[in-house]
Amino acid sequence: MLVFKSLSVFCLFSFLRLCASFDTITPSHSIRDGETIVSAGGTFELGFFSPGNSKGRYLGIWYRISTEVVVWVANREAPIGNHSGVLKVTDEGEIVLLNNTNSIVWSSNTSRAPASPVVQLLDSGNLVLKDGTGNNLNFLWQSFDYPCDTLLPGMKLGKNFVTGLEWFLTSWKSTDDPAKGECSIRIDTHGLPQLVVMKADIIKARAGSWNGLSFTGYGRSMPNPIFEYQFVLNETQVYFGFTLVNSSVFSRLLANPSGVVERLTWMDRTHSWEIYFTAQRDQCENYAYCGAYGICNANGSPVCACLEGFVSKSPKDWNSVEWSDGCVRRTPLECNRDRFLKYTNVKLPNTSSSWFNTTMSLEECEGMCLKNCSCLAYTTLNISGKGSGCLLWFRILIDMRVLSPGGQDIYIRLANSELDNIGKHGPSSKIKQAGIIVGSALLVMGILILGLILYLWKKKLCLKVRKKDCNHEGWNEDMELPVFDFMTIANATCNFSSKNKLGEGGFGPVYKGTLQEGQVVAVKRLSTNSGQGLNEFKNEVLLIAKLQHRNLVKLLGYCIQENEKMLIYEYMPNKSLDSFIFDHTRSKLLDWQNRIDIVGGIARGLLYLHQDSRLRIIHRDLKASNILLDDSMNPKISDFGLARTFGGDQTDAETKRIVGTHGYMSPEYAGYGQFSVKSDVFSFGVLVLEIVSGKKNRGFCHLDDSLNLLGLAWRLWTEDRAMELIDESISDMCTLSNQVLRCIHVGLLCVQQRPEDRPDMSFVVLMLSSEILLPKPRQPGFYMEKALPEADSSSTKLEPCSTNEITVTLLEGR
Ligand SMILES: *[C@@H]1O[C@H](CO)[C@@H](O)[C@H](O)[C@H]1NC(C)=O
Ligand SMILES: *[C@@H]1O[C@H](CO)[C@@H](O)[C@H](O)[C@H]1NC(C)=O
Ligand SMILES: *[C@@H]1O[C@H](CO)[C@@H](O)[C@H](O)[C@H]1NC(C)=O
Ligand SMILES: *[C@@H]1O[C@H](CO)[C@@H](O)[C@H](O)[C@H]1NC(C)=O
Ligand SMILES: *[C@@H]1O[C@H](CO)[C@@H](O)[C@H](O)[C@H]1NC(C)=O
Ligand SMILES: *[C@@H]1O[C@H](CO)[C@@H](O)[C@H](O)[C@H]1NC(C)=O
Ligand SMILES: *[C@@H]1O[C@H](CO)[C@@H](O)[C@H](O)[C@H]1NC(C)=O
Ligand SMILES: *[C@@H]1O[C@H](CO)[C@@H](O)[C@H](O)[C@H]1NC(C)=O
Ligand SMILES: *[C@@H]1O[C@H](CO)[C@@H](O)[C@H](O)[C@H]1NC(C)=O
Repeated sequence: MLVFKSLSVFCLFSFLRLCASFDTITPSHSIRDGETIVSAGGTFELGFFSPGNSKGRYLGIWYRISTEVVVWVANREAPIGNHSGVLKVTDEGEIVLLNNTNSIVWSSNTSRAPASPVVQLLDSGNLVLKDGTGNNLNFLWQSFDYPCDTLLPGMKLGKNFVTGLEWFLTSWKSTDDPAKGECSIRIDTHGLPQLVVMKADIIKARAGSWNGLSFTGYGRSMPNPIFEYQFVLNETQVYFGFTLVNSSVFSRLLANPSGVVERLTWMDRTHSWEIYFTAQRDQCENYAYCGAYGICNANGSPVCACLEGFVSKSPKDWNSVEWSDGCVRRTPLECNRDRFLKYTNVKLPNTSSSWFNTTMSLEECEGMCLKNCSCLAYTTLNISGKGSGCLLWFRILIDMRVLSPGGQDIYIRLANSELDNIGKHGPSSKIKQAGIIVGSALLVMGILILGLILYLWKKKLCLKVRKKDCNHEGWNEDMELPVFDFMTIANATCNFSSKNKLGEGGFGPVYKGTLQEGQVVAVKRLSTNSGQGLNEFKNEVLLIAKLQHRNLVKLLGYCIQENEKMLIYEYMPNKSLDSFIFDHTRSKLLDWQNRIDIVGGIARGLLYLHQDSRLRIIHRDLKASNILLDDSMNPKISDFGLARTFGGDQTDAETKRIVGTHGYMSPEYAGYGQFSVKSDVFSFGVLVLEIVSGKKNRGFCHLDDSLNLLGLAWRLWTEDRAMELIDESISDMCTLSNQVLRCIHVGLLCVQQRPEDRPDMSFVVLMLSSEILLPKPRQPGFYMEKALPEADSSSTKLEPCSTNEITVTLLEGR
């Protein structure tokens, strides 16, 4: 006994490799606490361990690259008190775990005895029992049939209809206790099978049914270099799983103790697990958030609405924030006379009470639904390829959401009269669609005609103005941008009264103005010393007017008169982003979804400037006060192209004129006047961190004075406390933590010291909109104050913690 024990210690410490060569257990070779077996390829190891602070001993399987990640536990509910555990396989083929009194703590419950039992740990992480004689490859028992909290490639989540065996994940109770926690992920097999996350008996979230490409609740997942989903549904079984694209990359799906489902992937470079995906995105993820016949739209305000033809069941609740009562039909169904209303881009409702057929066409499906008076809705079963099959709902439509892009179509049954109310279209959904097409065509034509009239009228106006006012030489006859005369603008802004002043931008003050037709505009009165000729300026403006993107402020016209240069923009009622994120009360109006949408919008606008527009503009003064918000809180970048028109016309690597705002300027630009798209990327990164944290980079005082926002973000990140950065006004939404972390991660990548380390905007947009793996950030360039040349004039001296946000123009004394 003593010899054995010291041998095992010997093995453990000196001959790990030698011992590791065993991957099997046989009736004559068992393993005791301290010994392990390693799979043939060296990926997984089986042995005894104590998780976290626990003293109990458990038998588990872990990755050899990161031994703290235990993917399977045998005796989850029954720890062994001390290091006396033994794992054996009996001659009858039962795998048993014994404690010091030789009592069975856990056993495999094998159904059939093999002639010569062999237990083997495979390189997939599967512990299997097989017959050592003959070539019977069937496993008599396998740990993959009894998942714990981790889904490995090759494992299944679902149900075997023949044996009744259900494969599902249950979280650990805590990181110290592998016993079954409350959270589980399983496939609900009522109706069309669907993937659900449950807490105890309550459904928390529903990924939904499989549509041939993905789960309906997750839209279309992007192809990725790591894994591919699998979904099988036939008479004998239903399951979901995944396979690795490159088998030497490790990836797993985890139900963590707090009930969050995440996908983690091992990063060789950083030697750590990175979260690749997390299931909780917004409040619409909560099961049935809007109740029966309600539809959730994370971008909507309010978030919940009733489906067309339905009204809220309890109007009082509906107006508050409690929506779970849902909606009821306004007009009762009349069975055969009913019709269908088509919704696009939605997550399909709960399929527990659904019926499906894989071969029917959509037409047959509609007919079938119409014939059965209790059928509530129908759609295609499989959207892959041309789309086929039929899915019908009975009893209730619940847990729908808007998923744009990536959602599906659904046809919802309504009383005939109800459809008349909604659309006044023809007697079937097809005619209705045709009606919509004709209707919208008419509308578009109407708008075009109106637009033409307006255009001609404006052009006439413009010509008049021109004759009266603008008699500069070389005036381009067919320019498309209206020119305003000085008096019009002066009148519109009450003679540039201070009451109308909206703010002071980098290139001069901005005024609110109301034109005679009632249109509200923003007027930017440029400071005079551009050093640019009128024609040059005009050509530049006309070029910039051609830049059109939903995330850029629209230029409506301009005015030049002697030394006056003015740009007329659309007016943004919600002012600028800084008036929200840095304001204690207004910041509460921006929830996380708003913020991530704003970040995405700015990224796309900037990408357009850098890459997609013909001009390839570097903004050079991106900051919160240059991001305007329209009435739906869509971000619009303003002041783009101004650096280009207004003196900073160099597009190569260096300039003597530094236009920018401290706190947003990259070190190489503030210090040496070197600018590139990567200096904009830096400013964008600062902006992202400001949006997440609600704190200004400059003008932000931390107890430790040397630390600005970037420094703080970096410190928290390296200490694994990045969540502490998040703005208090949104910090209660902790379920979104992984998305927030991803956003901070992208922000940090953008503010890295070296421009070549920073991603370009197309990669930023990709990182923000997909589950792609993120590289590890290096230290941000936040010591830019030190990099500023000595020769700066005193007006640009940097005050620590100043709240001064004005764009500065430095003339470098070189
Ligand atoms: C485990 O505990 C039992 C009784 O408590 C004791 O007899 C045995 O020696 C212990 N074994 C080890 C390996 O500590
Ligand atoms: C050994 O296991 C049996 C059965 O689970 C249990 O009753 C007994 O207390 C255990 N002994 C020790 C020392 O853990
Ligand atoms: C063992 O398996 C049999 C049938 O295979 C089943 O009836 C029994 O409940 C199982 N026992 C345990 C403890 O899982
Ligand atoms: C869906 O349709 C595609 C193309 O017709 C087919 O390849 C695929 O197997 C179908 N999937 C399911 C789950 O029926
Ligand atoms: C069901 O699918 C599994 C996995 O693809 C397959 O092995 C099995 O043969 C199928 N059964 C039937 C009846 O099609
Ligand atoms: C698989 O991944 C390994 C490690 O990341 C890499 O070295 C190898 O080239 C990859 N193989 C393929 C086919 O992509
Ligand atoms: C679907 O809805 C039914 C009826 O409301 C409910 O009993 C069931 O638990 C729900 N199932 C899922 C997976 O959401
Ligand atoms: C599905 O529909 C086809 C065509 O209508 C029919 O032949 C088949 O029997 C149906 N299958 C089931 C399971 O109802
Ligand atoms: C309507 O469909 C339900 C559910 O499939 C079924 O139980 C019922 O018999 C059908 N009614 C008719 C009239 O076909």
